Amino acid sequence: MNAVVFYSNTGQSKAIAEHFANQLGYPLADMETKCAEHYQNLVLVFPVHCQNIPDVVKNFLKNISVDNLTAIATYGKMCCGNVLHEIQKNYQKNIVAGAYIPTKHSYIDNDDAFCAFDTLKPIVEKVKEPSYISLPKLYKNPLADIFPKLRNRLGITIQKSANCSGCNLCAEHCSFGAIKSGITNRQCIRCLKCVESCPRQALKIKLGLPLKLYLRKKKINKVIIYA
Ligand SMILES: Cc1cc2nc3c(=O)[nH]c(=O)nc-3n(C[C@H](O)[C@H](O)[C@H](O)COP(=O)(O)O)c2cc1C
Repeated sequence: MNAVVFYSNTGQSKAIAEHFANQLGYPLADMETKCAEHYQNLVLVFPVHCQNIPDVVKNFLKNISVDNLTAIATYGKMCCGNVLHEIQKNYQKNIVAGAYIPTKHSYIDNDDAFCAFDTLKPIVEKVKEPSYISLPKLYKNPLADIFPKLRNRLGITIQKSANCSGCNLCAEHCSFGAIKSGITNRQCIRCLKCVESCPRQALKIKLGLPLKLYLRKKKINKVIIYA
């Protein structure tokens, strides 16, 4: 089968996946619902987390086979790491196209969503007429692999306000069983799906000073396309 499959917590990757599904006429599927095991043409859209491939995406890639893979990584204009090269090296060799797309950063309120959809045309064309490519290695901070989830947990707190009605929708949306009645546990990776899913905006994030300063650094607003 052909499909566009996405992993998305705050909607940025989902919006880009929807664009590819519309352009290609492929069905759109959330990675966290049961997916097929074999794909002829697969467009995979996911966010960069701490310069790495999120674990959900790694598990998905381990359990499928693909004839022609297009891998699209969204990133919050800080650093996209080297995730596409890592996918080709460690999981799926048959890559026909790839892109790093700068989007709104999950932790920055006044940031812009991606809107330059015209720049993605070469990817759509390449999916339609596939041939394999090799994805180059990009810079990744050597410290990025040291306890990334722990560093994230320490850098960000999720706080419950009096608006919480105890509906537990946050727990239903969490992929990791990491929140109950608005209180996070050690499984939490701070992906913010709970914050997004709360109908009463009862969950807020608080960034620690080092992360606040890091997020003030100059942004990289660059679409990188391999096709
Ligand atoms: C846990 C976590 C880690 C992140 N790490 C990075 C990063 O290393 N570099 C970066 O530029 N953006 C980073 N971001 C920002 C996301 O990659 C970006 O906002 C992405 O578009 C979110 O996609 P989504 O809305 O589909 O979840 C991170 C976001 C989260 C939640």
